[in-house]
Amino acid sequence: MAMISRRELLLGGAAVAAAPLIGGLAARQAHAADTLLDLSRLSHEILPGTLTRDMMSFVSTGAPPVLRMRRGETFNVDVDNGLGEAVTVHWHGLRIANAMDGVPYLTQNPIEAKERFRYSFTPPDAGTFWYHPHCNTLEQIARGLTGVLIVEDDEDPGFDADIPLNIRDFRLNGEGAFIDFYKPRNAARGGTLGTVSTVNWQVTPSHDVPAGGLVRLRLAVTDLTRVATYRVSGDEDAGARVRLLALDSNPLPEPQDHNEALLAPGQRADFALRVPDREGEEVALLRDTPTGPVAIATFRAVGASANRTLAELKPLSPNPFAEPDLANAETVEFLFGWTPDGDAPQRSICGSLGYTFWSINRIAWKGDVPGPLDPLATLKQGKTYVLRFRNETQNDHPIHLHGHTFRLLRSDKRKVPPLWTDTALLQAQETMEVVLVADNPGDWAFHCHVIEHQKTGLAGFLRVEA
Ligand code: C2O
Ligand code: CU
Ligand code: CU
Repeated sequence: MAMISRRELLLGGAAVAAAPLIGGLAARQAHAADTLLDLSRLSHEILPGTLTRDMMSFVSTGAPPVLRMRRGETFNVDVDNGLGEAVTVHWHGLRIANAMDGVPYLTQNPIEAKERFRYSFTPPDAGTFWYHPHCNTLEQIARGLTGVLIVEDDEDPGFDADIPLNIRDFRLNGEGAFIDFYKPRNAARGGTLGTVSTVNWQVTPSHDVPAGGLVRLRLAVTDLTRVATYRVSGDEDAGARVRLLALDSNPLPEPQDHNEALLAPGQRADFALRVPDREGEEVALLRDTPTGPVAIATFRAVGASANRTLAELKPLSPNPFAEPDLANAETVEFLFGWTPDGDAPQRSICGSLGYTFWSINRIAWKGDVPGPLDPLATLKQGKTYVLRFRNETQNDHPIHLHGHTFRLLRSDKRKVPPLWTDTALLQAQETMEVVLVADNPGDWAFHCHVIEHQKTGLAGFLRVEA
């Protein structure tokens, strides 16, 4: 019998999922998708009064749509690739089947220009997530391809309004034209910051919210680079109240009367806002900068006060993670560091920055190239693992694992709360331990979410084997 690799089998599976294109029986049986994403290039007014050309979106008409689906229900989404280059779409934070994870070569072949691919998955967890490409990731995200994805809970907590906030920068000049997406000298350090801050592709948008009402603010930091503290700030004497409900899709064990959160690329925060009572009163979403806080969005009370209180909200239900068996856990070490000399990335249709600056366990990711590829570690399905993240560099790295959610255990630098997440901010020179049950089989991408770091070596994958 001819040898067939596990990867060929996997990609064969993905090809079957794309069968509706081929026609025949499969096409007739295929039902309509819940959503069509019509990936397009477009011009859009980001800076008031100017048009930014050659942006990319998941629709042809404007900013990426918010995708809403329900926990435990299958969602079908057709991706129509009108970008003129290859793409894959990844659903950040969703613990779904590996073949639907959207990582080029690792889980599927790139979707070439003009091709269509159907993603079909059943989200097991509720919360605020996001979606983005995983092929030529730096340029495609820089041009606009990031959207918010919401998985609704079965139970309604009782909000009057729900506002997704897609927070990110663009690198534009004063005329609204794109400038270089990154600078190599920055890629070797903290990454290249944007020049124009946006929320839902708008500069400091203002939202009308019901006076005295309860609003869920869903912050998703989909930026390439920026790590910052965000604060929801309103006048308490006017009736404003803020509570932090969830981080990275997962409800806090005890909701906190905190109005701020430190968020890195890929991370999310859900706040409950009790709006001031008087019409016209404003609440701001602030971001800390070296020169002080800056408002990136505002919320304006309208109408007569609904007179609600935060205590009326039902708690968010926790997501169903397997409980780690710490007593029988195995520890796996990961060293995030500089790259060995002489390593060069390989060319790929998914783009290469042409530099290698970073590595995991002294191995720099070669780029998104056809396999065979070696995993950084192989985990046994069902077993508990402690992952020890050691950062030998002077920069922060938001470390992200696909297909799994892990719990923070400890750090040598600070007290970490026992939060469940898919993206942990590992600070300069920090060693942190997290724990998970490897319960989702497949090859799962594992990388820094500062995309310049990801694309210059700080990436790899973990294999979970049955
Ligand atoms: Cu948002 Cu590979 O990740
Ligand atoms: Cu992801
Ligand atoms: Cu990094």
